[in-house]
Amino acid sequence: MFTLRVLLHPEKRTIVRTVDRAPAPPDYPWALARQVAVADGATLRLRAIRPDDQPRLTELFHRLSPRSVYQRFFRAYDRLPDEWYHRFAHVDYRARLALVAEDAGALRGVARWEPGPAAGVAEIAIVVEDAWQGRGLGGVLLDALLTAAEARGIRRFTADVLADNRPMLRLIARVGHVLHRELEAGVLTIDFARRALDHRRLA
Ligand SMILES: CC(C)(COP(=O)(O)OP(=O)(O)OC[C@H]1O[C@@H](n2cnc3c(N)ncnc32)[C@H](O)[C@@H]1OP(=O)(O)O)[C@@H](O)C(=O)NCCC(=O)NCCS
Repeated sequence: MFTLRVLLHPEKRTIVRTVDRAPAPPDYPWALARQVAVADGATLRLRAIRPDDQPRLTELFHRLSPRSVYQRFFRAYDRLPDEWYHRFAHVDYRARLALVAEDAGALRGVARWEPGPAAGVAEIAIVVEDAWQGRGLGGVLLDALLTAAEARGIRRFTADVLADNRPMLRLIARVGHVLHRELEAGVLTIDFARRALDHRRLA
């Protein structure tokens, strides 16, 4: 499927440029695409990542505060190696999958899983653009990610989280049943399964 973007010159009212989005990969999971709303009513489009998201991932990274970069990557990067963006945007939708939340053509959040330390365990990571944090988008992304994982037979998860990263720890506590937790050099490795829906509602 192609998305055709037509840009109009504001004064001449003529078409000045058209942009074809690259076709999605053949095994692209279209079923994961849907509209989502955050706590204040703002809506975003949730969908699986595509290879042509690479430049949008770069732009998202450059909008992140140093604190968010540190919480996500555990280092104070000014920029990430180009190969990382390429790898982040190119997934196989099975062993590796990422969901993006898009608003006004920009990526506001990304949640992904990568193969974990053992078979059947997925390592998850999430990042939300600073201006969108605290509005419920992290929760929406994590929930959608775990649902997509479970639909593919993945039921055990692990995440590395800085011990003082309260929003991420709260997110995991809300959806996860913690199986094992280990602290090393300020980083908590949390192994968890998803909690049953009823228990999450009661929590
Ligand atoms: C962690 C992160 C993904 C959470 O996303 P978010 O959109 O801010 O999360 P939500 O708005 O859904 O809130 C998640 C929880 O954190 C709480 N929270 C949000 N901001 C908070 C803050 N500044 N301090 C304490 N708690 C906070 C929320 O109340 C919510 O808890 P609740 O479910 O008990 O109400 C986001 O903050 C982020 O991108 N941080 C930088 C990268 C990172 O830390 N990634 C995690 C490592 S993998």
